Amino acid sequence: LQSDAESAFTGASDSDALEQARVAFLGAKNGQFKDVQKMLGGIESSDKRAAGMRLNEVKNAINKAFEQAQGSVGGGGDAQIDATFDPSLPGTRPTLGHVHPITQTIDHLTEIMGRMGFEVAEGPEVEDPWHNFVSLNIPEDHPARDPLDNFYLATASVNDSDRSSETGEGQRLLRSQTSTVQIRVMKSDEPPIRIISLGRVYRPDAPDATHFPMFHQMEGLLVDRNVTMANLKTVLRVFANNYLGDDVEIRFRPSFFPFTEPSVEVDFLWNGTWIEFGGAGMVDPNVFKAVGYDPEKISGFAFGLGVERLCMRRHGITDIRDFYSGDLRFLQQF
Ligand code: PHE
Repeated sequence: LQSDAESAFTGASDSDALEQARVAFLGAKNGQFKDVQKMLGGIESSDKRAAGMRLNEVKNAINKAFEQAQGSVGGGGDAQIDATFDPSLPGTRPTLGHVHPITQTIDHLTEIMGRMGFEVAEGPEVEDPWHNFVSLNIPEDHPARDPLDNFYLATASVNDSDRSSETGEGQRLLRSQTSTVQIRVMKSDEPPIRIISLGRVYRPDAPDATHFPMFHQMEGLLVDRNVTMANLKTVLRVFANNYLGDDVEIRFRPSFFPFTEPSVEVDFLWNGTWIEFGGAGMVDPNVFKAVGYDPEKISGFAFGLGVERLCMRRHGITDIRDFYSGDLRFLQQF
């Protein structure tokens, strides 16, 4: 059987003939090897072991002969292709996807802040009102909690008493700011703290060139002994110089946020114009109390910058909607 199979395989002139020979000898249904294998059942049990081993040897030899024959038939095929194959022609490049410009920006910002010792922290996009408002010193009657300014989730099971309670227990919303992550970090860690958090936030704004209902923020938080506003300004200036350029200047304008005191708007002077990039300030003592820190012992600063805005400035993008329209002509430029 072995030599029959070997000569059938070597005699096969093309791959069709070889396939026929394979079926004849190795076919699972009516192959000749199968027939021999079936005979094993009728053999005396004392001889079975030796017969089985011999059968395996034959099987391996036939398989090997088949593989060799396959190689030489295949080689013939390649020779045919070679005649028409011109290796000097340029190949067809497969189209590869690449990282979205916002993700690239997030990586870049993370790298710059990392050099100043800021580690990345993350928090959920679906938040409860305690993390999004209450702990951040935003009381129940504050306009920032208005349902018209937030995406409250209808799916969260809320009963009426929860809905009206000051903590908003049971309610869920898409976070409107990454400041929620400040709270999560301070709840789980002790000072000193030096983190950034980059992620999506949601506000029901009508889309236009500068607004989109979902965008990204870079939150920063530094808590330690004797932290001052000067530290905040230095960190933001070094950041702006790294991301936008050496000639960029920074300006603070007085402002108000419930979770910082004092609070400022952060502007960068770039190409002759002052542009607002976000808010910042010294962490309000009420926020420290909400997370169980002693405001007499430590201080800290926090900031929140718009990631799209930074990316748009750096790359001269004029419409925020371009990031999210999925237009490849835009995306492929990055
Ligand atoms: N959370 C604020 C906003 O979304 C920005 C901010 C962050 C301000 C941290 C002060 C401190 O507008």
